Amino acid sequence: MADKVYVDNNEATAAWNTVLFDRFSQYRHIFVVALKRFGDVAIAGQPPRSGDRILDIGCGFGDTAQQLASVAGPESHVVGVDAAERFIEAAQEEAAAAGVENVEFRVADVQTEALSGPYDYAFARMGTMFFANPVAAMRNVRQSLRPGATLVMVVWRRKLDNEWMYRSEEVVDRHVPKPNAEESEALTCGPGPFSMANADTTGDVLKAAGFEQMTFRRVDIDMFVGQDPAEAVEVALALGPAAETVRLAGDDADRVRPLIEQDLLALAGEYQTAAGEIVAPASAWIVSARVPDAG
Ligand SMILES: C[S@@+](CC[C@H](N)C(=O)[O-])C[C@H]1O[C@@H](n2cnc3c(N)ncnc32)[C@H](O)[C@@H]1O
Repeated sequence: MADKVYVDNNEATAAWNTVLFDRFSQYRHIFVVALKRFGDVAIAGQPPRSGDRILDIGCGFGDTAQQLASVAGPESHVVGVDAAERFIEAAQEEAAAAGVENVEFRVADVQTEALSGPYDYAFARMGTMFFANPVAAMRNVRQSLRPGATLVMVVWRRKLDNEWMYRSEEVVDRHVPKPNAEESEALTCGPGPFSMANADTTGDVLKAAGFEQMTFRRVDIDMFVGQDPAEAVEVALALGPAAETVRLAGDDADRVRPLIEQDLLALAGEYQTAAGEIVAPASAWIVSARVPDAG
């Protein structure tokens, strides 16, 4: 939420370890499937090399860590880090069940904790937008990389071009006055999913963190947000800006929830395909950067 200044990542980590973990798990078939479409483009465009040591930042369930381990082959080693221990527990269980041996997962706040290394390649799929101090966090990442190493990250582009999130927030805003995140007891996810949407600002963050040769590649997809309008409404109110407003507003939002749902159902109708699914435009940056050579 823009009206709050975050001094550390404790609140965001608590959110990711509780309500956001639960909702990400419940709607994994929507969120992770959509994120994978962006992640696949990012990895195909700038894959790790065979045998690389790889860092996966904010790795969530660890599916990208497993994917990177497969792309870089059996001689590679991937370390997935996430501040939320419930994601790390799930990632460890899933990699073990899949029999993937060249990955490991650790609980770590990327901004403040040692990330080991040195790594040849760092990757993040929507895992770098929640830092209270993005320069400190990205500098910590850079310090874990060897000279000449590559960073590839997927971040949301501007909200306006992510129509289901943008327009569902507009609906909620019509019914609920913007809550003050400083006063609400509900946990927020920190600076939020669109904090790296501005390429100039994000480029400056990476430059200040010690990276060079930044590139921004725009990728647009049609994002599946529900098998029918009812599921798309649940999704809008589960994760993202509309959901965060509703959580922070608490009783004020609960009182008008039927009206919000009614308007969101109507909105979903605008995005319904002939097959009945709800599909809306979505857009992300694939950002790449490089650590300068030594000397
Ligand atoms: C939107 S989810 C993306 C998860 C995963 N990369 C994916 O694409 O499915 C953001 C992830 O970043 C993690 N995260 C947020 N702040 C973090 C921090 N300071 N250090 C490490 N991980 C963090 C969250 O716990 C969460 O798993």
